[in-house]
Amino acid sequence: MRKKFITFEGIEGSGKSTQIKLVAEYLIPKSVSLIVTQEPSGTDIGRKIGNILFNREHHHLCAETEMFLFCAARAQHVREVIIPALEQNKIVLCDRFSDATYAYQGFGRGIDHDMIKLINDYSAMLLKPDLTLLFDLPVEIGLKRATERNNQLKDPAAADRFEREKFDFHTRIREGYLDISRKEPERFQVIDANRDVDVIQEEVRRCISDFINL
Ligand SMILES: Nc1ncnc2c1ncn2[C@@H]1O[C@H](COP(=O)(O)OP(=O)(O)O)[C@@H](O)[C@H]1O
Ligand SMILES: [Mg+2]
Repeated sequence: MRKKFITFEGIEGSGKSTQIKLVAEYLIPKSVSLIVTQEPSGTDIGRKIGNILFNREHHHLCAETEMFLFCAARAQHVREVIIPALEQNKIVLCDRFSDATYAYQGFGRGIDHDMIKLINDYSAMLLKPDLTLLFDLPVEIGLKRATERNNQLKDPAAADRFEREKFDFHTRIREGYLDISRKEPERFQVIDANRDVDVIQEEVRRCISDFINL
């Protein structure tokens, strides 16, 4: 299992889902064997856990429960989907993974880093991404995009529990992700997400193609 697990991270509206879909559409015709998956909804169990996590009526869901639920979804996802795919020598493109727990429940909610590391490592069976693309952009632009996306869904109230968080929360997430990326520069590629979709996609293709020696 080498050099095959690639994660996409960044704040709400940074373009993770847009870019992962486009790069998969680029790689598949080149006969690259891959799967695209996401957290927490990469499994049936994870989708159900996600319904609890994102429900905007769950104001009272405490930070620790939030951390355990994301990690519970990850435990299922790693065992049911990610490891089996890596064992079949597939490339796994994953929309959010453990770094999101450090960013959201650590920097965002204030849970101690060492506690997160313990639970994260256990849930993920110590699996770490080989490459992480961090889509970085100003919070106000990310949130504006997320709002526009929700409006297109014809439900202006569609913002989930996280999108409804205050500006400061999202600022801590952005700074948190950048902090994590500086500690592991060999794993991270920080991508300026405040550009046109196709310009960003060109950089994403280049990064991933180089990484997998396409
Ligand atoms: N580079 C970009 N410029 C402008 N709008 C974008 C860009 N990338 C994505 N979008 C739009 O912004 C919204 C959020 O993008 P999305 O990929 O869902 O972000 P994420 O998955 O990171 O939350 C979508 O409506 C998408 O079409
Ligand atoms: Mg998304």
